Amino acid sequence: MHILVTGGAGYIGSHTCIALIDAGHTVVVVDDFSNSHPESLRRVEAICNTTIALYRGDVSDAALLQQIFTEHKIDGVIHFAGSKAVGESVEKPMLYYRNNVTASQTLIETMQSAGVHTLVFSSSATVYGDPHTVPILEDFPVGATNPYGRSKLMVEQIIQDQAVANGQFNGIILRYFNPVGAHPSGKIGEDPNGIPNNLMPFIAQVAVGKRPQLAIFGGDYPTKDGTGVRDYIHVCDLAEGHVKALEALHGQTGSHIFNLGTGNGVSVLEMVQAYAKVSQRPIPYQVVARRPGDVAQCYADPGYASVTLGWQATRNLNDMVASSWHWQSSNPHGYREA
Ligand code: WQD
Repeated sequence: MHILVTGGAGYIGSHTCIALIDAGHTVVVVDDFSNSHPESLRRVEAICNTTIALYRGDVSDAALLQQIFTEHKIDGVIHFAGSKAVGESVEKPMLYYRNNVTASQTLIETMQSAGVHTLVFSSSATVYGDPHTVPILEDFPVGATNPYGRSKLMVEQIIQDQAVANGQFNGIILRYFNPVGAHPSGKIGEDPNGIPNNLMPFIAQVAVGKRPQLAIFGGDYPTKDGTGVRDYIHVCDLAEGHVKALEALHGQTGSHIFNLGTGNGVSVLEMVQAYAKVSQRPIPYQVVARRPGDVAQCYADPGYASVTLGWQATRNLNDMVASSWHWQSSNPHGYREA
C-alpha cells in the first residue's frame, strides 16, 4: 500500500516509516519539522536503502494535502503530526487545539474529497485520565485532564462522527502508552527539543552526561515502590502495531480503538535501575514533589489488539533501555550534530 505519514520525521513517525517499508509498503511523508529534524528521514532512507517522497509543510494546509493526494495514489494515512507536551498545552491551549484538532479536521475533509478512506490516528493513553483501576481496557471511561489530552479526545470523537456520516470511512484510533527506545541501528531515536518532558529521554541525557541528575516526581504514590508506574513500550513494537492495524483493517469501515501497550507496569525507580545497569553509567536522582496532573499507575490490557490485529509487543525492558542507550551514546546531541 501507499501510505501518507504525517509527522513522518518525528520520533514515532520515523520508526513507523521503517516498519512500513520493511513490510513492503511505500511511504510518503509530510512534516513541517517544527518538532523533528530532516536528518531523521535521511537516516531512514539509508537504513532502508530507499528514497522517501517528502513534502515540507503543515497538515492544516489543505492545498498541500490535495497536491499530495493528486501526485500519489494514497491508500491510507497515518497521522502523527501534532503537539504533544502536556505542560505546554496548559500554557498554550489554542496552539494545541489548532495544531491537533483543526489540522486533523482539515486532513479528514481533504481525505474525503480525494476518496482516501483509511486513517490511523496517533492517540494516547492520556485520554483515560486517572483510571479507576489497571490494567486499562479500551471501554474504560475517558476524561482527559489537560488540553493536550482533550485535543486527542476531540479528534477521536471527530473520527467516530465521520465514520457514522461517511459509510466508506475507516478510522483506526491507536492509544499509545509510553513509547521508548530506538531502532537497533542506533541511527534514529528520540531527540526532544530543549529539556525533555518525558522520563526516558531525560534519563538518557543524564547517563550521557548532558544533565546532572534526574528529578523523580513523587516517591509517595500507592505503587510497588512509591514512584509512578507506566506501560513503557518499545517504539519498534509500536511502529509494527501501526503496520498490523493497517493490514488487518484495510478495506474495513467504521471506527476502531486499540490500546498499544505491553500490559506490564514499570516504576520510575525500576527504569532508573535498568538504565544504570545497561549503560554502566550512574544515574543520580533526587525524589521531589509530585508533578501536577500525574497519575499513580497507567498500564494497558493489550488483549484486544492481540486478538483483532494479531499484534503484541515482543521487546522487553532491557531491549528498550539498551536501544535507547545505543542511540543516545552514539548521538549525544541527537540529530543536531548533522
Ligand atoms: C513517566 C513517569 C513521571 C519525567 C506523557 C503523556 C502521554 C505520552 C507520554 C505523548 C511519570 C515520571 C517523568 C521526569 C519523572 N506523551 N517522571 N521525572 O506522563 O506517563 O505520559 O508522555 O503522547 O500522552 O501524558 O510520561 O515520561 O512524562 O512520565 O519522575 O523528569 O516518569 O512522574 O511517573 P507520562 P512521562
